[in-house]
Amino acid sequence: MRTTTLPLNLDRRPSPFAAPDFDKLARIYRWMEWLTFGPSLQHCRFAFIYALAQSRQALVIGDGDGRFTARLLEANTAIEVDAIDVSPAMLHQLSKRSQIGRVRTHIADARTYTPVRRDYDLVATHFFLDCLTTREVEELASRLWSYTSPGAIWVVSEFTIPPGLCARLFARPLISALYFAFRLLTGLKIRSLPDHHAALEQSGWALMQHQKSIGGLLISELWQSIPVPDSRIISCP
Ligand SMILES: C[S@@+](CC[C@H](N)C(=O)[O-])C[C@H]1O[C@@H](n2cnc3c(N)ncnc32)[C@H](O)[C@@H]1O
Repeated sequence: MRTTTLPLNLDRRPSPFAAPDFDKLARIYRWMEWLTFGPSLQHCRFAFIYALAQSRQALVIGDGDGRFTARLLEANTAIEVDAIDVSPAMLHQLSKRSQIGRVRTHIADARTYTPVRRDYDLVATHFFLDCLTTREVEELASRLWSYTSPGAIWVVSEFTIPPGLCARLFARPLISALYFAFRLLTGLKIRSLPDHHAALEQSGWALMQHQKSIGGLLISELWQSIPVPDSRIISCP
């Protein structure tokens, strides 16, 4: 059994926030996306698909209507996927798109979900971490580290606030508006982007590659699980 790198000061109280409800959006989600961002989010999801050819067991979290999962199954004919989402309607869309028989769906809150395997070599989260707080991302990343094999890959797509002043002036209100819209539509309680870099770095993951688009507003990243110093290792129940 692999051990975990939970930072010793990690607050493990249950999240104060209920999970958002994306059911109503499941059938129109892709059209909403195309109307607002065109193909940009889709390019982010598939940015590293070429690097996933060797993966065999994937844990895809919050994939919504399953466009990434469907493309992954096409690109890698040997891979099996466990797809987790809290929205049954989203998972229904995912299943319709991925009728290849190599996908198991799990209706679950990722913040408390216990993965069914301990040897995932791929984790994928596209525009999902922004539904969590930084503490929740850190807890998830620590837990996933212990359910993945050494050297496992984690592909991430996210919105970010770019560093330059002009970009920040554009990005901040846009991201606030997106959070406001999703609060109305799904009950999402989160109001700002989590610091997923700090959370993953503290949890045994290292950033290997990244690509930016729309002036840094969107980012695609490839992370890899790394061995950790013995001093930080504690047993995983
Ligand atoms: C913004 S959508 C992104 C969907 C998809 N990954 C994409 O790239 O378009 C977030 C997805 O995460 C799911 N989700 C949000 N919070 C969740 C949680 N705590 N546990 C599991 N799924 C969650 C939602 O149901 C939704 O399908």
